[in-house]
Amino acid sequence: MLGPVILAASRSDRMRRLISAAPVTKQVVDRFIPGETVADIVPIIKDLTAKGLELTMDVVGEDITTPEQATAARDAYLALIDHLKDLGLGERVEMSVKLSMFGQALEGGHELALANVRPVVEAAAAIGTTVTLDAEDHTTLDSMFAIHEELRKDFPQTGCVIQAYLFRTEADARRLAESGSRVRLVKGAYKEPAEVAYQQKHEIDKAYVRILRTLMEGEGYPMIGSHDPRLIAIAQELAHKAGRKLDEYEFQMLYGIRGDEHLRLAAEGHRMRVYTAYGTDWYGYFMRRLAEKPANLRFFLRSMVSK
Ligand code: FDA
Repeated sequence: MLGPVILAASRSDRMRRLISAAPVTKQVVDRFIPGETVADIVPIIKDLTAKGLELTMDVVGEDITTPEQATAARDAYLALIDHLKDLGLGERVEMSVKLSMFGQALEGGHELALANVRPVVEAAAAIGTTVTLDAEDHTTLDSMFAIHEELRKDFPQTGCVIQAYLFRTEADARRLAESGSRVRLVKGAYKEPAEVAYQQKHEIDKAYVRILRTLMEGEGYPMIGSHDPRLIAIAQELAHKAGRKLDEYEFQMLYGIRGDEHLRLAAEGHRMRVYTAYGTDWYGYFMRRLAEKPANLRFFLRSMVSK
């Protein structure tokens, strides 16, 4: 039951300072967040696209406290999009954004986040790609879905994420499974109370399959965000039953996790998108990756002790 403890630590400033300052942290962090700057990340984008993979880019930094930081986050995405344009890779690389990073948790945050994310969505569209709004903790989701709906009026291809562990998600999936929508289904990575979310893995997995069936049988474009071999096999089966062609859904996995599987699915002709995070404010993202697999934490602790 290490996961919930690690997720609690992901909200602690003291733990943030301690872990961020540890000398060996960076080597372990690099597995999941392979760069701090656009210059670091460009070779990785080139390498993965040359292997037939597509990408979705996350500039990490959800824990902002001022509107200036939210503006800086917007500008970081705009700079990335400029680079993608120069590389001619606009159509292969989309953006994933966390609205918290665009100011959602600040005063007047809903409007601020919408104002900051809109230029990113516009710039992405101008180079032939799109943006997906990540799902954060459950208290932020009504605002996220409202922003998603607003953006879709001008940019219908804007995607969003739904989390199988939340009770609300089956209804959200039915609403979103409409023509032109792009929906990434994930299990869910935050610490959520039993009033709003399934707590047991088997319940979450069952909900994932029910929701995936809704998405596959619907009119939208499902994006299967999981590394779980069982769910990937079920997704292929459901896609087949729903009569979907290979370009009518896609798989997505995180950079640093099951890399062989990325290549295997792509070689089978599937669209495979790698969620690739970079930036300096990696703490929250990194801690969620540790929480998902306690073996990661053991590896991390061992590397600290062996130094
Ligand atoms: P599960 O956790 O059961 O893992 C299945 C197998 O995958 C494990 O047995 C292990 O082999 C491997 N694995 C999984 N996580 C690992 C890790 N951290 N390190 C090493 N191996 C690991 N969540 C969220 O709340 N909001 C969001 O917006 C997103 N966005 C997102 C995008 C994409 C593309 C993905 C793949 C995932 C997310 N997530 C997310 C995270 C998601 O909610 C979930 O926490 C992780 O994907 C882990 O769940 P799995 O479905 O992989 O299954």
